[in-house]
Amino acid sequence: MNTQWDALRGLERQNRDRRILSLFDAPDRAQVFSAQTGDMLFDYSKTNIDTETRDALIALADAAGVAEKRDAMFSGAAINDTEGRAVLHTALRNLDGDPVMVDGQDVMPGVLDTLDRMRAYARQVRDSGITDVMNIGIGGSDLGPAMAYQALSPWADGPRCHFVSNVDGAHIADTLRGLDARTTLVIVASKTFTTIETMTNARTARAWMADQGGDPGAQFAALSTAADLTADFGIPAERVFGFEDWVGGRYSMWGPIGLSLMIAIGPEAFDAFLRGGQAMDRHFQAAEFHENLPVLLALTGVWHAQVCGHASRAVLPYDQRLARLPDYFQQLEMESNGKRVQMDGTPVTVDSGPVVWGAAGTNGQHAFYQLIHQGTRVIPCEFMIAAEGHESDLAHHHQLLVANCLAQSEALMRGRSIEEARARMAEKGLTGDELERQAQHRVFEGNRPSVTLAWPQLDPFTLGQIVALYEHRVFVEGVILGINSFDQWGVELGKELATSLQPVVEGTADAAGKDGSTAALVGFVHRNRG
Ligand code: F6P
Repeated sequence: MNTQWDALRGLERQNRDRRILSLFDAPDRAQVFSAQTGDMLFDYSKTNIDTETRDALIALADAAGVAEKRDAMFSGAAINDTEGRAVLHTALRNLDGDPVMVDGQDVMPGVLDTLDRMRAYARQVRDSGITDVMNIGIGGSDLGPAMAYQALSPWADGPRCHFVSNVDGAHIADTLRGLDARTTLVIVASKTFTTIETMTNARTARAWMADQGGDPGAQFAALSTAADLTADFGIPAERVFGFEDWVGGRYSMWGPIGLSLMIAIGPEAFDAFLRGGQAMDRHFQAAEFHENLPVLLALTGVWHAQVCGHASRAVLPYDQRLARLPDYFQQLEMESNGKRVQMDGTPVTVDSGPVVWGAAGTNGQHAFYQLIHQGTRVIPCEFMIAAEGHESDLAHHHQLLVANCLAQSEALMRGRSIEEARARMAEKGLTGDELERQAQHRVFEGNRPSVTLAWPQLDPFTLGQIVALYEHRVFVEGVILGINSFDQWGVELGKELATSLQPVVEGTADAAGKDGSTAALVGFVHRNRG
């Protein structure tokens, strides 16, 4: 692939100083550099990608074997080869049940059976006197359902949901304060059922429920691959919803990990969410690369991160209900593509995945956009917007929201020249050195790239499309980087050291063998607690 990378680096050097705005001299640029699936539009025309660059990026994807690896993933091959596992979160939204084979066995009957059990249980909970559901989980066992619960609040007509993730006792204490133990269902969501944060919170919740008049024997459910451990915890099999190790934690909200969401919005709306994901799967599998949203989103990502060298990427949904989406994508992308070596164990030859961060617009505009517009580092932005909101009586709010979203991408591209800034200062009556000094502060270099994802109105189906779009984008980027996007060995060392430090912090072991800083910090904690 060196040839393809070299060609792209050459194009970047050649076009580095070109104004993106000048590309719009071609009247059909917006149409040629956008793609649509169903009602969803992806516009990447406000980037420095031209036809030659797009062809070179597609050549890179071809050389990396994206199509072959995509097909291998969908067919159940063990592409997560540091863990010897298939990668089949797509099977969880394969609602039509077309066979998916793992080790010669069709996994679909099991998937659909679990989905039916989830639907029946969700209906039962929604019809019972349960007022609140507390999902205890972390990472992939928290971020997806927590994000989607907020995103789909107009559909949430079941019990209220609460999400406890942090081992910091403040999280569960603050959550429990508002709950009635007699009418609360606790869902322990953990693929492994060993995660220290989740198990500590689960035990605290169980003690609270027993103490406060609830019945932990009846009011706990579990979502896990580890049936033996859920049984040891005392949760009977009829309230355990299992899944297989071919569903990665950060890809798991489509199955049992989505139970809290299903209880909140009902099985029908949850099915629509799955249908949205399935529709994106089909598009990803069938569309030519130059019309394929996940591929194009990945290629703009590779262009900005690995070719142009921009180290971070902002995800900016103009939708208050998608406020948790940047957090969700942060885990999805950074845990998947933050890797140091390729599949064969040799170092990656280009930068690994970028830092992903962001917040809902318009709030971010009044916080960090200053740096995006005038800071010295270029931060490619991914804007998201719906044509219409849900609050029909507040349509003027939504129009303002849309105007702000579009204004930001325009401003980033267009900028403001020193001449324009000087003219403004002259209008204010400034002259000489003071005019020049003030004008410099008001210059926007512009030429900052962004893409925009747009849809008619956020609903469960659209949310399913958005999440699956980003999952596949991460996959395509991982294939191009030559890495395994489906393991996460980088989280292990910290977990091991935390386990060894626990007795040191508790004071039952000494800090022998620890570095001076760590030992001194432990000493500070010991001296300053009651
Ligand atoms: O932090 C690592 C990680 O394994 C994530 O990948 C995962 O989503 C999270 O911990 C929670 O894991 P589990 O669902 O097994 O509790």
